This record gives sequence, C-alpha cells and structure tokens, in this order.
Amino acid sequence: MCGIVGYIGKQSVSPILIKGLHQLEYRGYDSAGVALSGEAAEGIRVYKAKGKVANLEAKVETLSPEAQTAFTTGIGHTRWATHGEPSETNAHPHLSMNGELALVHNGIIENYQLLKEQLVGYGYTFKSQTDTEVLVQLIDYFYQKNGKQLTKAVNQALNKVIGAYAIVVMERENPNHLVAARKASPLVIGIGEQNAEFFIGSDATPLVEYTHKVIYLEDEQIADIRPSEAVEIINLDESSANVNIKDVDIDISALSKGGFPHFMLKEIFEQPHCIENSMRGRVIRREDGLYEIKLSALAHFKAKLIRARHVIIVACGTSWHAGLIGKQLIEEMCRIRVEVEYASEFRYRNPVIEKDDVVIAISQSGETADTLAAIQLAKEQGALVFGIVNGVGSSIARAADTGIYIHVGPEIGGASTKAFTGQITVLTMLSLALANALGTISEEQFQEICRELVEIPAKMEVVLKQNDTVERLSNRFTYARNFLYLGRGYNYPVALEGALKLKEISYIHAEGYPAAEMKHGPIALVDKEMPIVCLATRDQLYHKVISNMQEVQSRNGRILAIVTEGDEQVKRMAQEVVEVPATLNCLTPLLSVLPMQLLAYHVAVKKGLNVDMPRNLAKSVTVE
Ligand code: AGP
Ligand code: GLU
Repeated sequence: MCGIVGYIGKQSVSPILIKGLHQLEYRGYDSAGVALSGEAAEGIRVYKAKGKVANLEAKVETLSPEAQTAFTTGIGHTRWATHGEPSETNAHPHLSMNGELALVHNGIIENYQLLKEQLVGYGYTFKSQTDTEVLVQLIDYFYQKNGKQLTKAVNQALNKVIGAYAIVVMERENPNHLVAARKASPLVIGIGEQNAEFFIGSDATPLVEYTHKVIYLEDEQIADIRPSEAVEIINLDESSANVNIKDVDIDISALSKGGFPHFMLKEIFEQPHCIENSMRGRVIRREDGLYEIKLSALAHFKAKLIRARHVIIVACGTSWHAGLIGKQLIEEMCRIRVEVEYASEFRYRNPVIEKDDVVIAISQSGETADTLAAIQLAKEQGALVFGIVNGVGSSIARAADTGIYIHVGPEIGGASTKAFTGQITVLTMLSLALANALGTISEEQFQEICRELVEIPAKMEVVLKQNDTVERLSNRFTYARNFLYLGRGYNYPVALEGALKLKEISYIHAEGYPAAEMKHGPIALVDKEMPIVCLATRDQLYHKVISNMQEVQSRNGRILAIVTEGDEQVKRMAQEVVEVPATLNCLTPLLSVLPMQLLAYHVAVKKGLNVDMPRNLAKSVTVE
C-alpha cells in the first residue's frame, strides 16, 4: 500500500509535497495526487495524474508564483490501486461531495460497500470506484452532523470502518488544521521547530531532511495537527493517548527499503502482513466463532465455477509454481481435474479448451505477454477466464472475466517472493470456497483449514526469526556450482521455486525435482560437492522423503533439510537443518518456501550480486 505526504505551516507546500512523493516512489505506485489549501488561498485545489509523479508535477507547476506562496497546507498520495483501476478519477486525494474535505488513504476499507449503500441512502453521490471515497464521504456525514468538528468526525467515521488505513484529512473551512489516523498502515508525523510546522509521511523518508523529531502514530490513534500547538493524539475510544516524540536518525537510502538492505529482504519479511491483507475481508470469523470465505468473484460466477469439470491454470515462472500448488489444492478439495500449463507453450499448441472449462491466469504483474495471450485464446474458445493478479487494473486483470486480487502491495524486488505466497493464499481461499459450494469437503475440514490458515502469518513470523540461522549456513554453500532441490507432494512445487530463486539471483545452477524422481537420473550428480536441499516437513510423504534423503546421504551428498520443528530424526541425517512450525499439509508451502527465499537471498548477497535487479531479468516480461 503506497505513499502519503503532508505539510502544514508557513512554507509553500507544493514543492514539499512533490519532493516527498518522489522520495516515496520506490514503494511502487500507479497514480498520484495532491490537495492544497491555505489561509491566503481560495478553497481546496486538487491535482491528480495517472502514472508517474512527474506527470503530477507538470500539472502542479502550472500554479502561479502567488498561488504557490498562498498554498501552505497540503496532502499528497501515491496510489497502489486496490479498489478501482489506476486512473485520474480513482487517484487520491478524494474530495467529499461538497468539496469541504479532502483525504488521502493507504490501505483497504473492507466494509466500504455497505457504508457506500448507507451514504447513497443519505443522498451522497460518488465519482470514483474506490473504497477511499466512501471514507471521505463518511467523515463528511459526521462532520456536517456534529457542527464541523473534523477530529470528532474522523473518530466517529473510523469507529464504523473495518479495515486497514493510514489517512490524512484537510478541511476547506480551516486550512490551519490537519487530522491524521492509522490502523495497520504506517504514518509518521514530523515536528518542526516550536511546533511552527508539521510534516507527515508514510515513513520517515520525506521528513528527515526537515526534522528528526517524529511521532510514529500507533494503531487506532487519531492526531489533531495545528501549527504553533502541540500535536494532540486520541484513541478511537476518545481517550487521550500519550504523545511519544522520537529522534529519528536514519540515512534516507536505508529508509527507502524500510530499513532493510534490499527490497527482496523487505518483501520476504513483509509476507506475514501481506498474507493478512490477502485474507482481509475474505476469511471472515463469524460471531459464532466459525469461519466463512467471501469472494465476490465466486458470488458472481458461482454457477460457472461449480459446473467446471476441468480447470486449466496458465502462468509463467514463479506464478507457474503457484499454479502447481493450486492444482493440488483444487483437485484435493474440489475434486475437479486441473492441468497447469506454461502460458508460452499453451498459447501455441492449439490446446483443447471446452466452453465449460475455467482458465485461471496467475500473474504478479498482470502484464506478462505469454499469460495475456493464453487467456485471450481461452476467451476465444468460450472458457471462463479467472485472474489471480497483484496489479490492479493490469492488462490481465482487465482481460479476465473475473478474479481475485492478491493485495500484497507492489513487489519491487526482481525475484518474486510475497506475490508467490499471496497467490497461494488466494488459491487456498478459492479452493475452500469452491469446495464448500460443491460440498466436496466436510464443514469440519473447511473450518479446520480456515482456522489454520489464519494462523499462518504468525507461523511465518516464527520461520523468519531464523533469518540469522539461514544467513550463517548460507556461508557453506556459496562455493557450489550446482544445487539440487527435492520435494514431494505440496513441497514439490516449493522445490522448483527454491531452485528458481537461487538461480535467478545468485546465478548458481539449481534444479528442483520430485524427490522420488531423483533415482531416475539426477542421483548420478550427487557427490560431496553438491548441496541437496530436501523439503522434509511432516506430511503423508515424509517417510518417503526420508528414504530419498538416505539415498543422497549414502552418496555423501551435503543435505540442507527443511523440517517440521522438533524433528530429531532428520537432524541426524542432514548437515544443516531449518525448522518450520507444524501446519496442515495443504498449507505447508506458505512456510516451507520462506527458508528457500532466505537461502537464495543470502547466497546472492555473499556473492556480492545485485539482489534486487539480477542481470538479464525483467520484473515483468511483457514481450514473448
Ligand atoms: C520470479 O521470481 C521471476 N521474476 C519470474 O519467473 C516471474 O514469476 C514470471 O516472469 C511471471 O511474472 P508474473 O507473475 O508477473 O506474470
Ligand atoms: N484502497 C485504496 C484505493 O484503492 C488505497 C490504495 C493504496 O493504499 O494506495 O484507492
């Protein structure tokens, strides 16, 4: 979820906002905008542009010098679309219908549909497709009812909201006032000398050149910001909150990666939060403690989806590996036959596609040329095309008949990490919802998987705590010229993904293989020089993997094993072990892939390679 900047004080605000948005560009975005006001200015002026901040800058530069000086309060935003495709209309800031309020927002308002219906009932009209516009109108609803007390209106509105947000709101009536609030999306307030001015940012990047005194807003806190007064902070329950002013002293380059040395490591560590975002508003715990899964795509296309006798998954690279996991999930839970196709092969081999088939396209970018071509072929043959995409409003998302966004935020690192686990999470939710509709799994099984799925982010955190262990053991493998990754069942696609991660960022040749297949040839490669990564978590194939490991061990292979925590047997067989928490077989990949990602990352760093932009690699392969 992207970037927010704000300023209130005596300086000309537009240069500060534009510079701040440039400093937040690293977070990835699809559009940008600013709202300006000031005591010596008329009302709130809004500029928005699709695409780069430079497009917005060109518009703001049309301001006369007098206007530039008159505007001394402002908010800015770089958007990563979640609701409503990237466009100028959907870009932030959003104005209330009467133009009295302007708001920028990072996050997702889960219950925006219901709130929108209520507001329409009160006579509100909407210009955009976003959840954010609903929020500014809701605040206005309370603002008009409570005598234009903005901070109170924000509090009243946020008490009705379910979701994640970082927001800043300005009011036409009083340009010397900003209100900020956050829940699950970060927001930082920088304090100018003697409280004469304040700076706001999604992180400290846009603030550090102006001040090192900052307040990190906590969840469910609302900040009332007025120049020459101290910031006041209240909780959602209207109790006053302590104001903790911290000294921030980090160099900007580190900040742009959230304090991580590389985007890839940042995105590996973001995965627990991203998976929560993928599930937000979709895996619902009811009052009675039971779970249900709500997918709008299923609501609209349920008949076609449950009638499908054949699912074809088309994708490339890491997304294709996610497809292999999707195959096992759908076949196991829904008893529908699934085939997984490389999009580049599928599109040219004149495939058999029946009109009742469902073709699922998986793509992080939503712009991969082969995948886009594959679904166009499927549509010509009358199949229902279902997109599982990260890029909202991307070509594949728009070409699909329906789909589910994975909501993991922009993935900057060249090697895909959080998108992979986001795709698997969405495939799991889709399989569960479909199986529930088909009655192919019992209510008990459904509830058991849902209960475990919501525990996965916490279990991911446990695995990520072993980053230092993986970093240490990676020292022993940087010499290697070849790696073999072995896995079975749900861990077979993870073996493929682990090999791809290593290949594409460390340039060491690596091959993923079904563990049992190793005997049919690759075993000839095994010697004491070759690291063998064995995915040996406890599942119904565990004992089979153990025997495969014994075959490797008897040929002096060097084994790095990924095991379920507490597994003493494998520890005696392997040179190196990384433990992951126990989970259900079908959810294993969400945990077992993490050590794979960390291993590839640390080996590449030790080799001094460009982890975020590996040679020859494009983040999105928009050519054949
Ligand atoms: C993943 O680490 C690679 N960068 C690459 O294989 C990628 O998964 C593939 O190009 C597909 O991209 P997409 O998911 O954006 O369609
Ligand atoms: N959900 C909001 C939108 O789609 C905010 C997205 C963001 O965090 O940039 O406009």
